[in-house]
Amino acid sequence: MANRTNEQTLPGEPLVYSATARKFHWAVAALVLFMLPLGFAMDNRANDRNIFDGITEAMYSTHKLVGFIVLWLMVARLIYRLSHGAPRAEPGLATWQIAAAHATHWGLYVLLIAVPLGGWLGVSFYGARDVFGLFSLPPISPVNQPLSETVFKLHKAGAILIVLAVAAHIGGALYHHFIRGDGVLSRMLPNIRRKN
Ligand code: HEM
Ligand code: HEM
Repeated sequence: MANRTNEQTLPGEPLVYSATARKFHWAVAALVLFMLPLGFAMDNRANDRNIFDGITEAMYSTHKLVGFIVLWLMVARLIYRLSHGAPRAEPGLATWQIAAAHATHWGLYVLLIAVPLGGWLGVSFYGARDVFGLFSLPPISPVNQPLSETVFKLHKAGAILIVLAVAAHIGGALYHHFIRGDGVLSRMLPNIRRKN
C-alpha cells in the first residue's frame, strides 16, 4: 500500500495529482507564463527597435536564467512523472477527450524540455552565455553565429507551439470546470469545489 503509485488509485479515492506533482505543475506554469511574454518583449526591444540598454540586458539575463531553471525543473518533473504516474482518468470523459488531453500534456513535456535546451544551444552557438555579468551558463557547443540564427528560429517556433498548446490546455481546463462542471480542474486544484 505504501508504495502504491497515483496511477493505481482505487475506486472512490479522490482523483487528484499528488502534492509534488501539483507543486511542479504550478511552479512551471507560473515560470512559463512569465517567460513567453518576456521572450517576445525582449526580442522586440533588441531586434525590432534596436534598444540595447540595461533593461534589455536584464531581460536577456532573466530569460536565460529562468529558462535554464525551467529546463532542470522539467527534467526532474519528467523523471517524477515516469516513476509515479498520474491519477486515472476522470470518469465520464470520451476516449477522444482523454487522448487529446494526453497528447497536449506529453507535447508540453517535450516542448518544455526542447525549447529551453534550444535556447541554451542558441546562446552557446552565439557566444552569449553571460547572466547578469555574474556567471556564464556552461557551453554546450562551439561558437558558430550563423548556426545560432537557425537555432533561434526553431526556438521561436517551439515557443509559439507552447503558446498554442497552453491556450488549448487552459481553455480545456476552464471548459471542464465552468461548462461541463466535472472534476478535471480539481485534479490540479483540489481546494476548489467541483461544480457538481
Ligand atoms: C521554457 C523556456 C523558454 C521559453 C518559453 C522561451 C521563449 C522565448 C521566446 C517567446 C522568445 C522570443 C522569440 C522571438 O520572438 O524571436 C525567446 C527568445 C530567446 N530566448 Fe528563449 N525561451 C525559453 C528558454 C530559453 C533559455 C533557457 C535560453 C538560454 C539559456 C533562451 C534564450 C533566448 C534568447 C537568447 C532569445 C533571443 C533570440 C534572439 O534575439 O533572436 N531561452 N525565447
Ligand atoms: C491557469 C492555468 C492552468 C490551469 C487551470 C491548468 C490546469 C491543469 C489541470 C486541471 C491538469 C490536470 C488535467 C488532467 O488530469 O487531465 C493539468 C495538467 C497539466 N498541465 Fe496545466 N494548467 C494550467 C497551466 C499550465 C501551463 C502554463 C502549463 C505548461 C507550461 C501546464 C502544463 C500541464 C501539464 C504538462 C499537465 C500534465 C501533468 C501530468 O500529467 O504530469 N499547465 N493542468
